[in-house]
Amino acid sequence: MSHPFECKYGYFSDDGREYCITTPFTPRPWGNIISNGDYSLMISQNGSGYSWRGNAGQNRITRSFQDLIKDNWGKYLYIRDRKSGAFWSATFKPVMHPYEDFLVVHSIGYSRFIQVIEGIRSELTVFIAPDAPVELMQLTLTNLGEDTRELDVTSYAEWALGFAPDEHREFHKLFIDTSTDFTLNAVFARKYLWGFPDEHGRYNNINWPYTAFMAVSEPLVSFDCDKESFLGMYRSEEHPAAMDAQHLSGRVGRFHDAIAALQVAVSLAPQQSKTVVFTLGAAEDEKEDAAALIRRFTSVEASRQTLQAVHDFWSRFVDGEHVETPDPALNFMTNYWLKYQAISCRLWGKSAFYQVSAGYGYRDQLQDSQIFLVGDPSFARKQLLMHAAQQFIEGDVLHWWFSIRGGGPRTNCSDDLLWLPFILDAYLKETADYAILDEAVPYLNAPAEPLYDHCKRAIERAFSRFSPRGIPLMGDHDWNDGLNAVGTLLKGESFWVAEFLYVILGNFIPLARRRGDECFARRCEDVRVSLKDALNRFGWDGEWYLQATTDAGLPLGSHENDEGKIFLMPNIWAIISGMAEGERTRKVVDSITRYLLKDYGTLLNYPAFTKPRPDVGYVTRYAPGLRENGGVYTHAATWSVWAYTLAGEPERAYEAYHKICPPNRSADIDTYKAEPYVTPGNVDGPQSEYYGRGGWTWYTGSAQWLHRVATHWILGIRPQEEGLLVDPSIPAEWDGFTVRRRFRSAEYEIHVRNPEHVHRGVKSLVVDGKPLESNLIPVFADGQKHVVEVVLGRKE
Ligand code: GLC
Repeated sequence: MSHPFECKYGYFSDDGREYCITTPFTPRPWGNIISNGDYSLMISQNGSGYSWRGNAGQNRITRSFQDLIKDNWGKYLYIRDRKSGAFWSATFKPVMHPYEDFLVVHSIGYSRFIQVIEGIRSELTVFIAPDAPVELMQLTLTNLGEDTRELDVTSYAEWALGFAPDEHREFHKLFIDTSTDFTLNAVFARKYLWGFPDEHGRYNNINWPYTAFMAVSEPLVSFDCDKESFLGMYRSEEHPAAMDAQHLSGRVGRFHDAIAALQVAVSLAPQQSKTVVFTLGAAEDEKEDAAALIRRFTSVEASRQTLQAVHDFWSRFVDGEHVETPDPALNFMTNYWLKYQAISCRLWGKSAFYQVSAGYGYRDQLQDSQIFLVGDPSFARKQLLMHAAQQFIEGDVLHWWFSIRGGGPRTNCSDDLLWLPFILDAYLKETADYAILDEAVPYLNAPAEPLYDHCKRAIERAFSRFSPRGIPLMGDHDWNDGLNAVGTLLKGESFWVAEFLYVILGNFIPLARRRGDECFARRCEDVRVSLKDALNRFGWDGEWYLQATTDAGLPLGSHENDEGKIFLMPNIWAIISGMAEGERTRKVVDSITRYLLKDYGTLLNYPAFTKPRPDVGYVTRYAPGLRENGGVYTHAATWSVWAYTLAGEPERAYEAYHKICPPNRSADIDTYKAEPYVTPGNVDGPQSEYYGRGGWTWYTGSAQWLHRVATHWILGIRPQEEGLLVDPSIPAEWDGFTVRRRFRSAEYEIHVRNPEHVHRGVKSLVVDGKPLESNLIPVFADGQKHVVEVVLGRKE
């Protein structure tokens, strides 16, 4: 029997929770980003990757350089037959030994590597303790043959210990100090240098304030902390000198290129299995004790308990909401992978194979935090307050900031400050926690004020940056970072920001009234009216809306342009905001469908730029069809699904969704190349030589939004202040679907049937046996389960 979404490189497990990879030769590294919110690691199907704590740029623990072709930086385990001298690795890299059996499973919080080589079955499971800065490598070896085998297992990782990448290694290695402890079967590493200034502003003058360690559950036979003796001069991890030697050199101290290598012996009778556990971590000085962490986690029993704890930990974030529809790709992604991707990678790990980030993006992680709304909204609350604290009293914000010690660029970006009230609205609709508006949060340059005032100052700041025609200025750029030369002289305009602001004001006016801020509510109303008028007067290009005007007053995203004639953002948001009306709505939708909705999703603009335009920005400097330059930029492409549902085009909405839902690309995986279980940041557009190729996977805002457009706009279950709205826009052939989710501390089990095979329209709705007149399920807030029966169809 075939497996779900099977392709030549792998398949989903039947429940969709695991992705199984059947060969090391995937077209790109297919990885997992595992994090507990503090300590994180990435690992590819080859076993390559690295670890970090807090963030991957400022606090890298093991060394790595970005190279998706070689994929050859990792923390590896070697297995050696001491009699024959044959050796291989527990993952395909680095030794790349031929195998009799191979399976890699990536899943929620762990990755597993199964191989059969030289008559030995190895099963390596990699995961992170939910509540400690420790990763575990649980290796079970089984002797499948008839003879007793004398094996040894040797670990290997290079220490980075601080800022990454440590390109100038000959400098950085001079500060690392290693030591060993045979009673703990461990090696330790410290570094007397961190890339931050000391309290007097002096660089290169503080310690890296952690102790890194690697330990093993079996008695240590030998160890090495020196790369030179382990690898041998001019050799590599594929065949290190250590595999030609009886034992590791035992070099340790301050005078080497520091690594961690531990060697233990494993003797296996025929059919016997044995588990060895390696731990790796970094204990913070004065807060954590490396030896205590080693003792707590470095045993077979502890590793089993910890793996169970990992399952429980993730269940809290993943299982609070569950959908069952006739579309398995939608189910798998919505139920497991998008939540996991958004939380583990985007919000916590903040790093991935294609992009190493060093902090939080003001707009990015705010949007991502919506993923917590169903499972545990308190995390979204924390995120809102955290971002509010990155604001200046003038209303503007840091475009991004470092997560260790803060700091980041203060810019004239036109939209990022507005995401605070935008996401606040989603939070309030889900929780009705109006108390959050009174939470006092300090500014970066002024004392604390309530969150309400933070939002108001963001909006007022936006009001102060309008063109004489009443359109918001582009400033340094809008949501599209690549438009970074359009409006830096504060003349160019962004029509998309006009629409975005219009939505925000619509949500904020009732909040202002609720707080008795009538004067501001009126002001918002006035601005709303004038924004709509100005957009429709100056932003209409005949068949669609313009993206912008440049500082020189030239239109961008117009039929007058030879490249970049039409942009997605101002057109979908014209619908989302409700600013396009009547005939124009129709025209806009038709233009989106005609020029932008292509084979692999909705393009960000068309045609792509083939020549750099210094008056537009770096979007024009990418090769045509890549990323924001005429590619499917999936973050924005998810919003096209939303827009199509609002425009009353459910088939198109589903088409736009289906084309970017990753499992569906298993069917042409050699074109797509990327992991089919997480969203990519972009898919190449028609002008690329690799039309349809996915890239920049994992670290993308599309994960959370793909989840949201599926649940809120296709399945149409949307929290409102007074209840849970049921308003699906589904393919007519669906017989129905089920959604189980929490809402304001009650459980809702919503069964939707579609006997007439319509796309939309609720005919009847029964809650706990009682028919309701409307399609709004009331708030119960009673901790109880409520069963909702919905029938779609035409009302008589
Ligand atoms: C990147 C940025 C995001 C931005 C997008 C579009 O993903 O992180 O903030 O909106 O690009 O340029």
